[in-house]
Amino acid sequence: MAIHPLWRNGKLTVGSPAQAHLMAPALHYGLGVFEGIRSYLTSSGPAIFRLDAHLERMAKGAAALGLPFDMGAMAQGCMEVLDASGLGDAYLRPLVFYGSGNLGLDVDQHGAECFVTALPWNNHLGDAAARGVKAHVSTLRRNASDAIPPLKLCGGYVNSILAKRAATAAGFEEALFVDARGYVVEATGENIFMVAGGKVTAVAHPDALPGITRATVMEMAGAGARPVALEELLEADEVFLTGTSAEITPLAALGGRTWTAGPVTADLRKIYMDIVRGKDSSRSSWLRPVREGGHAPLRP
Ligand SMILES: Cc1ncc(COP(=O)(O)O)c(C=O)c1O
Repeated sequence: MAIHPLWRNGKLTVGSPAQAHLMAPALHYGLGVFEGIRSYLTSSGPAIFRLDAHLERMAKGAAALGLPFDMGAMAQGCMEVLDASGLGDAYLRPLVFYGSGNLGLDVDQHGAECFVTALPWNNHLGDAAARGVKAHVSTLRRNASDAIPPLKLCGGYVNSILAKRAATAAGFEEALFVDARGYVVEATGENIFMVAGGKVTAVAHPDALPGITRATVMEMAGAGARPVALEELLEADEVFLTGTSAEITPLAALGGRTWTAGPVTADLRKIYMDIVRGKDSSRSSWLRPVREGGHAPLRP
């Protein structure tokens, strides 16, 4: 793995081995919470998009697992590690996890660790992001929110990964979760929107992650949210996925139904990209520029 700057337990390092203990409870039971945050190169340098919203969601995940979480320190860590990376467009990955303890399920005595690193990043859906993603309906159900809260808890992602594996094995790029009553939940790492008769609607479902890109797009588009059955989604004029990594990605196919790239999705994508690149001054409060005059990128 490439060496990236690391902010670990409050200290910035680069080139030091980023290791965790084999008996870390997080490794055995998925006892951690993470975030996926993007920075973009703007005319005033690299800026982190919606940092506060991401860290607020992370704080909820940490609270659910009883992990300590200092939002101010983590924000500082994100800024420092991005600055040290020398990157403009980057993906920031903070993680708080139980790094020491025993094999018991009572976490109160476990020791917590946290880190954040910055990686060069493009849309994880690759080429599909521009031409549209081909998805199928997963045979797996989404984690029920009354079993695992829809937050970025590490262990919860086994569900997404199983669905993604089945999708790629069947020749698709994504999987959509649909509940037992036929209502759309979300994709493995994105929320879902539909456009019908020019109206943009966010799919609402209690088992879906409350996405920050989803909230952003709802505000941008003045869109409402409501439950959407799979049958209705299949009849929509356009369907798109939203996520920090996926940004706004059109859905090109769902099973046998195909869509050509739609004008509303394209317009929203342009508006979104202008916002994240700092070209829309009315949304500048969503961007946190890395402080000016920061130190030069650290090298190993
Ligand atoms: C399961 C799941 N749903 C939706 C999203 C989109 O959330 P956000 O827009 O906050 O990145 C993500 C990505 O974090 C995700 O992992």
